[in-house]
Amino acid sequence: MEQQIKALQIEATEKFAAANSLEQLNDFKVQYLGKKGSLTSILRGMGNLSAEERPRMGQLVNDVRKVLEDLFETVSAKLSQQELENRLSSEKIDITLPGRVNKIGHIHPINLTMRRIKDVFLKMGFSIYEGPEVESDYYNFEALNLPKDHPARDMQDSFYITPEFLLRTHTSPMQARTMEVNSKENKPIRMIAPGKVYRRDYDATHSPMFHQVEGLVVGEDISLADLKGTLELFLKEIFSEDVKVRLRPSFFPFTEPSAEVDISCVICKGAGCRVCKSSGWLEILGSGMVHPRVLEMSGYDSSKVSGFAFGMGVERIAMLLYGIDDLRLFFENDLRFIRQFALRGIK
Ligand code: FA5
Ligand code: MG
Repeated sequence: MEQQIKALQIEATEKFAAANSLEQLNDFKVQYLGKKGSLTSILRGMGNLSAEERPRMGQLVNDVRKVLEDLFETVSAKLSQQELENRLSSEKIDITLPGRVNKIGHIHPINLTMRRIKDVFLKMGFSIYEGPEVESDYYNFEALNLPKDHPARDMQDSFYITPEFLLRTHTSPMQARTMEVNSKENKPIRMIAPGKVYRRDYDATHSPMFHQVEGLVVGEDISLADLKGTLELFLKEIFSEDVKVRLRPSFFPFTEPSAEVDISCVICKGAGCRVCKSSGWLEILGSGMVHPRVLEMSGYDSSKVSGFAFGMGVERIAMLLYGIDDLRLFFENDLRFIRQFALRGIK
């Protein structure tokens, strides 16, 4: 039995020393020193020994156990240290790697354009009004001299929500709304009303949702010359001194006379492209002198005051400002397109 114990000691010592991980070392410990381990099963066999032999063998087994346990502690400490070093070197932080950039948002090109438009009018002393996108048939059409069944209603294909309410097709209902409020005290008006509008339209220059900025000036002796001067000043501020502007006689039921304003196409420089439909010009706004009937319906005395109004397409202006040949790009949210505007800053 003594030999058996010695042999076991040698075998276990070799195994412990050769262990190359804590896990393996623990397995060996269980194998030799555990409850069902080799040393324990030797102890069990002691019942067969003589009374003199028993204490001696017991002592020997305990000594061997002690030696092996000490060895286990030493090897275990060595392996722990080794594993720590391995982790430290494999999980080392490489401080030469570039840091992660915090992505911050920026302003959408349509809002950039809106801001520029508002800035110019604020400098000219205009106030800003906002109104509902779900609008009543009355303000969208009737108060603008477009009674039910008027053929000019077909000029704008509408999204109706109920027979009485629709998504506004233009920002012109804000004319009627502001006049109603200000006519009570016969106050003059100088306002713009920016916002979203909706129509059944879809191609490179038409979107079902787009933005307009309405403008309205009401007071004594407001003339067509004021309209022309204001719009020319505005367009030169937004584009440049040398931009070509063209006023074209037109028709709107709520203005008389009416004019549409075109800008020379900056995409093709007038040569003709799909944006200007080969004409060299792009229509950006409608305008005119407020129709006397509209002034009267909103509570003004049309023999005492007059006014002019305009409604411009913000996407069209943005296309010309940034040289974009398809308005749908603004709404498809392709980040490769949108991100280019981050570089342009606020202005
Ligand atoms: C109007 O909407 C009138 N309310 C403008 C007006 C206001 C006239 C005040 C007189 C007095 P028009 O339908 O032409 O007019 O639209 C005005 C501008 O909106 C156009 O010149 C164009 O720049 C833009 N626009 C029209 N439809 C679309 C569309 N589907 N997508 C993008 N822009 C559009
Ligand atoms: Mg038009």
